[in-house]
Amino acid sequence: MAALARDTVVGVIGVGAMGSGIAQVAATAGHRVLLRDVDDDAARKAVHAIGRNLDGQVAKQKVDADSAALILDRIDVVSGGTDNLTSLADCGMVIEAIVENLEVKRRTFKELEGVVEPACVLATNTSSLSVTAIAQACDRPERVLGVHFFNPPMVMPLVEIVPGVATSPAVVERARSLVDSWGKTTVLASDTPGFIVNRIARPFYGEAIRIYEEGIADPATIDWAMRELGGFKMGPFELMDFIGNDVNLAATRAVFEGMNFDPRYKPSVTQKRLVDAGHLGRKTGRGHYEYGEGATRPEPVKDEVLGRLILNRILAMLINEAVDAVNYGIGTAADVDLAMTRGVKYPKGLLSWGNEIGLDKVLVTIESLREEYEEDRYRPSPLLKRMVREGKQFHS
Ligand code: NAI
Repeated sequence: MAALARDTVVGVIGVGAMGSGIAQVAATAGHRVLLRDVDDDAARKAVHAIGRNLDGQVAKQKVDADSAALILDRIDVVSGGTDNLTSLADCGMVIEAIVENLEVKRRTFKELEGVVEPACVLATNTSSLSVTAIAQACDRPERVLGVHFFNPPMVMPLVEIVPGVATSPAVVERARSLVDSWGKTTVLASDTPGFIVNRIARPFYGEAIRIYEEGIADPATIDWAMRELGGFKMGPFELMDFIGNDVNLAATRAVFEGMNFDPRYKPSVTQKRLVDAGHLGRKTGRGHYEYGEGATRPEPVKDEVLGRLILNRILAMLINEAVDAVNYGIGTAADVDLAMTRGVKYPKGLLSWGNEIGLDKVLVTIESLREEYEEDRYRPSPLLKRMVREGKQFHS
């Protein structure tokens, strides 16, 4: 099967926050892009938003005005509403970024399959649904895969490539090399809840909330420790407020349920209460912190001993999670480290960080948490135990 060249027409279905960014990425790379949304108005707004974004880039001299105009010219809105998807018939690849609902996505893929050419690659940008379950709506699930961008797609370099159970290796290769050619960093992730990034990142939030719930430290102190001592760009609580507590809780729930209620991913009552109260974060003016005019942040307790305790506990849980992802083949060691530094901008790959701290020390931290709490949540990965026993390190 031939590679997808620059003259491949790329279709994007659903042009909200993600679809419009993906469209801009593809058009910037030189593709003609067809946008389709059930809501024609949303599609038109997406084109305006892309235009404004390009204007900003021209102002910052990241692109010249002529090139920006050409990029915008390559994007066309095709009618949405109640008609079928026939306007996407010429696409060589279609990326779906509609509402996160399995039945709606399955219906869309089934309809799409009847419209496009047999060689067209069909991709979903789902963040929490099973790619395999979406693909199975098609007679030819072998050409369906997950192509998971991060928000905002123009800025975030990582894309997780997620084959479903039936996806053909040739389709994976074609989609991956196309997305690579768009200047993105791709990693191969298994079709399991949260893929690589959203699975491994869970303890960043969950363990931070546990530390707060137990009264060990308040959010400001935990954020300070993770930023100042750990080198993370944002602390867990400010990041939850930035993402939206509703969105963050939904991601945790999806992984928890998808992993058959493994206590390692258990959602927190504290976060649910915030969501119930409408304290979703920045977007509602209040979350873990207040954001309105004149709001001030509580001062952290800048106690280095306490800070190290917080950092070591959260980091050990993150490293254990990363090791376990390698153990279960969710991604290779190299891809796991790449995914966390590019997808969520962690200061170091977690496996390399584990090597640096000493995998034996990480294991001791997890085992002492387990002894203290007697909870399955603090369960060392069998691979971590094996690596320590054999005195090995990760070569990521
Ligand atoms: P959004 O709500 O901003 O946009 C969704 C768009 O799809 C809307 O414009 C809506 O009118 C349209 N739509 C809904 N049903 C449709 C249908 N049947 N046919 C055509 N258009 C339809 O959603 P967002 O945030 O852009 O998410 C889209 C997808 O990307 C979801 O699957 C989500 O899980 C995934 N995703 C979202 C990320 C995020 O941070 N927002 C990150 C990575 C993936």
